[in-house]
Amino acid sequence: MAGHIFSLTPQPVPRVKTKHRVIQTPIPVEGTAEIFARLDKVESRSMHGQLPLVWERAMDFSVYDIAGNRWIDFTSTIFVANVGHSNARVADAIQATLDRPLYSCYAYANPTRAQYLEKLIAFAGAPFEKAFLLSAGTEATEAVLKLMRMHGQNHGKRRLGIICIENNWHGRTLGAQMMSSNLGQRAWIGYQDADIHHIPFPYPWVLDGQSGEEFFQQGLAKLAAKGIDLSTDVCGFMLESFQGWGAVFYPTDFVQAIEKICCQYGILLAFDEMQAGFGRTGKSFGYKHYGVTPDLIACGKGMGGGVPLSGVIGRGEIMDLPQVGNMSSTHSANPLVCAAGLAVLEELESRNLISEAERKGKVFRDALEALQKRFPERLSWILGNGMIYAILFSDPETGLADGAFTSKVAERCMQKGVLVVHTGRESIKLGPPLTITDEALLEGIAVIGESIAEVAAE
Ligand SMILES: Cc1ncc(COP(=O)(O)O)c(C=O)c1O
Repeated sequence: MAGHIFSLTPQPVPRVKTKHRVIQTPIPVEGTAEIFARLDKVESRSMHGQLPLVWERAMDFSVYDIAGNRWIDFTSTIFVANVGHSNARVADAIQATLDRPLYSCYAYANPTRAQYLEKLIAFAGAPFEKAFLLSAGTEATEAVLKLMRMHGQNHGKRRLGIICIENNWHGRTLGAQMMSSNLGQRAWIGYQDADIHHIPFPYPWVLDGQSGEEFFQQGLAKLAAKGIDLSTDVCGFMLESFQGWGAVFYPTDFVQAIEKICCQYGILLAFDEMQAGFGRTGKSFGYKHYGVTPDLIACGKGMGGGVPLSGVIGRGEIMDLPQVGNMSSTHSANPLVCAAGLAVLEELESRNLISEAERKGKVFRDALEALQKRFPERLSWILGNGMIYAILFSDPETGLADGAFTSKVAERCMQKGVLVVHTGRESIKLGPPLTITDEALLEGIAVIGESIAEVAAE
C-alpha cells in the first residue's frame, strides 16, 4: 500500500473493553517496531505497508496480539477467512491429513482430491464440469488466460485478443499484470501485449444517465476504431466480479451485454472470483449477481479457508484443452489443501453461511448508509454487496478523493479495536468473516463512525 506510512511508535490510546474488543496497551504495542525492523532486514519491502499490528492468533472474527489486545476483524486477512479464522472443521481436516500422514503426493492420485473436486464441481453447479487446482490466485488468472487463448486457437481466431476492464486487477505474475490495467505496475515487463485490450469500467459516477449497455457499446466502439474485429481478433473477456479497491459492482446490463457479444462472436466469458467467491457477496460466486453464465471462473482466497488454494473451474471442453502435463503444478491438489477446501464447502453449507451473508449484508448496508447520512460531506460512496463493502471518502471542500483522510480513519479504527482493509486509495474495505455476529458487525460499524468523527474533528 504505497502512500501512507503508519507510525511504529506506540501511541497512548483510550482503553477499550467490550464483549468483542480489548485495547489495553498503547498502539502499536511495544515490540512492534522491532519485529518490523527484523522483517525489513530480510524481506523485500514490497510486502510491507499494512497497518502496524503483529498478529498472534485469530479466531472466528477476532484477531489477537501478544499483549492481549483483541480486534473485530473486518478484513478476513484479505477476504480469505470466509468461514472464520482458524475454523474448527478446517483445522480438524488439516490435522487428520497430518495424522494420516499425507503431506504431499504431487500429481499422484489420492481420495481426498477426488472427493474435493467432486464437491467443488457440485458447489459450482452448471455449466461447470471440471476444475484445476493451484496455490495462488494469480496462477489461476494466468491459467484462465491460457485456456481462453488455447480455445481461440482451436476455433481459428486470427488473433488471441483478451478484453479486460480498466482498473480491474488480476494478480502479480506476468499475464495477470497484463490483464490488470495499471500501467505503472506492469512497466517492469518492458513491453505490452498487443492482444490484451482494456475498456472503461462503468463506475456509477461516470455513467451519467447512460445505461450499462450503452456504456459498453462505447467501449467496443473504441476497440473497433483500433481495427479490432470481435469475430476474428478476440477469444476472451476477463472480468473481476466486482472491482476490488472499491467493491464496485457493474450494472447488470453491462455484463449481460458482454455475454451477448461473447455468444455472438464465439468469445469465452471468464470471471475473476478471487474476492467474490465462496459466499463473500451473499451468493456462491459473484457473477450470479448479473444473471449471466460464464465459461470459466478463477478463484482462490476464501476457497482454502486460510491455506494456499486457488483454482480454475470451467466447462469440461475448455478445461481439457491442455494435453496431459501441459497444465499442472507441483502443489496442485495437494492433499492438505484439498482437505481444507472440502471442509470450507461443508462449513458454508452446514451453517448456511451464504444465505446468512446475504441477510447480514442488508444489516451491513443499512448501518453503512446511516453512517453516510451522518457524514454526507465525507462519505462519497457506499458500495458493495453481502459481506463486502467499501466506503469511499472525499474531501469536503474539493469533493475530490481523500486518501490521506482514509488512511487516518483506518489507523484510528485499529487504535479502537476494529481492523479494516487499508487499500492505499480513498477507500476502506470491509469484509468480515461470514460468521460474524450481527452484534459484532454493528459494533464494528459504530467504531468506524466514531473514528470518522474524531479524525474529521482534528
Ligand atoms: C481480484 C483478484 N485477482 C487476483 C488476485 C491475486 O491473488 P493472489 O494474491 O492469491 O495471487 C487477487 C488478490 O488480491 C485479487 O483480488
